[in-house]
Amino acid sequence: MYRTHTCGELRIADVNKEVVLSGWVQKIRDLGSVIFIDLRDRYGITQLYFDNVLNPDIMDLARKLGREYVLRIKGTVRERESKNPNIPTGDIEVVVKELEILNESEVPPFTIEENTDGGEEILMKYRYLDLRRPNLQRALLLRYEMAKEIRNYLDSQRFVEIETPFLIKSTPEGARDFIVPSRLYRGSFYALPQSPQLFKQLLMVAGYDRYFQIVKCFRDEDFRADRQPEFTQIDCELSFVTQDDIINIFEGLAKHLFKKIKGIEFNEAFPRIPYSEAIEKYGTDKPDLRFDLVINDLTKQLQGYGFKVFDAAEYIGGIKVESKADTYSRKKIDQLTDFVKRPQVGAKGLAWIKYNADGSIKSSIDKFYTEEVLRNVLSDINAQPNDIVFIISGPKQQSLKALGELRLEIARSLGLIDENIYKPLWVVDFPMFEWDEEDQRYKAMHHPFTSPKEQDIDLLDTDPGKVRANAYDFVINGVEIGGGSIRIHKRDVQEKVFEALGLSKEEAQEKFGFLLEAFKYGAPPHGGIAFGFDRWVAIFNGSKSIKDVIAFPKNSAGRDLMLDAPSPVSPGQLEELGIEIKPDTE
Ligand code: AMO
Repeated sequence: MYRTHTCGELRIADVNKEVVLSGWVQKIRDLGSVIFIDLRDRYGITQLYFDNVLNPDIMDLARKLGREYVLRIKGTVRERESKNPNIPTGDIEVVVKELEILNESEVPPFTIEENTDGGEEILMKYRYLDLRRPNLQRALLLRYEMAKEIRNYLDSQRFVEIETPFLIKSTPEGARDFIVPSRLYRGSFYALPQSPQLFKQLLMVAGYDRYFQIVKCFRDEDFRADRQPEFTQIDCELSFVTQDDIINIFEGLAKHLFKKIKGIEFNEAFPRIPYSEAIEKYGTDKPDLRFDLVINDLTKQLQGYGFKVFDAAEYIGGIKVESKADTYSRKKIDQLTDFVKRPQVGAKGLAWIKYNADGSIKSSIDKFYTEEVLRNVLSDINAQPNDIVFIISGPKQQSLKALGELRLEIARSLGLIDENIYKPLWVVDFPMFEWDEEDQRYKAMHHPFTSPKEQDIDLLDTDPGKVRANAYDFVINGVEIGGGSIRIHKRDVQEKVFEALGLSKEEAQEKFGFLLEAFKYGAPPHGGIAFGFDRWVAIFNGSKSIKDVIAFPKNSAGRDLMLDAPSPVSPGQLEELGIEIKPDTE
């Protein structure tokens, strides 16, 4: 028998029991005549006790043990002399009578404890050792618990889990496809799904009514902390529903998870903010509502006084920081100015108005404005003494984005973000299209299968930029957790949208002929949503990166360091596929 108990199980009530445990050596303290060993498994740590008197015949063997050796021991539970209140088994230890080494271990390349000394490279290379650490074990167990609760909830709402294929034809979600060459059809390729979007719509045409899948998606895009080339979606689709139905059902899912996993009850409905309002108030479509700091439009108040920069700007916006004017030294303001000028933030500069605690006013633009005008600005946004206002001007979208970044930076630097609270919300009424400067054409903001709002359909021909979509995102603490839409289910509308996206009839037929064909046979009104499962787990786990909640993630350069992938394949494999690698021309 390998074990009667796990290493996390024994308590004071088990004293005097004879037990068998198996696990890994976490720590050894050899005090000469006495040896303490921490034995670890997934469930916890149990202290083992050896001494010269009680077990003289196994002391020699015990001295041979090293970290990460795998043991099976038999012994008796007894109350500890010095208890450890920090672990559940801290009241007891096991006096070992029999010791068997099940396997030896080389000295691991880093310490396998909560706080390891290993750097990212080495941790990723030896991911199976990294995964022994309690924090990663907790993360993966949390992930499993969440998946279980998601299934429970969706099952209670009559969803069925249906698998969809991985070897498919390209589905556009705005990233590049990973492609897989076909051996039987030389020169032809499968694409890995960026999402099961088209399949779930076809399942609605097929009458399945409510579908879900916890499913891998593949996107060849640039890396960030919240992106992986393969990631997991909770992918859902429903028939005969309105946008409100969908939002309500999945708000139910979110509340279920908050309650079951985090023990948090949300009694109120989550806010639903139109896209345009999110952008104007927070400078982003994924606002972090854990703190205030809203953006104020100051264009009217600050134009027409001869200050060229502002007069020429399409938009001027400001953020009021309350009760902190005295903490913004010249140096601190310069640092913020450098921040907003970074290319990723994109502002040309940063102006400010300080409403000093003594009631006086100081401003970077007081050469151009009378005190009265500045005081009016302050009073319009209800500024009080010791408030400071930061101002950015320029093209509207660009300035709002920069103000959105500035808002986050101010909150971070002032410590306004409470890491222990959750602020979920829905962003609704997304525009249907966004203009792509590079390609000089409209692109679908969500994807080309999203339906336009009924009242905006006529604008498709005349002013596509103004068309709003039946699309929504779910956001928690500034992270886009999910997104979806009511779909187009009529062939003529779908063709119109393809046309607005600059897709010719032939291209549309070639790429999505099967969908247009399916729409001929009684497609029901339908819609859905997909959540980034990794992101949701990361948020609940308090992780900054989704890597921390994925068992075998890619590193930030998209490599699997353990497998050493991607890697070249043999000439024979290439030959079979009819593929020749061009020499690197760069
Ligand atoms: P979307 O592209 O918005 O929608 O994706 C849904 C959610 O998936 C997560 N996500 C990612 N997570 C980790 N790494 C990535 N590279 C990555 N890309 C996306 C995000 C995102 O909100 N088919 C539509 C859904 C629908 O319309 O039903 C879709 O895929 O959390």
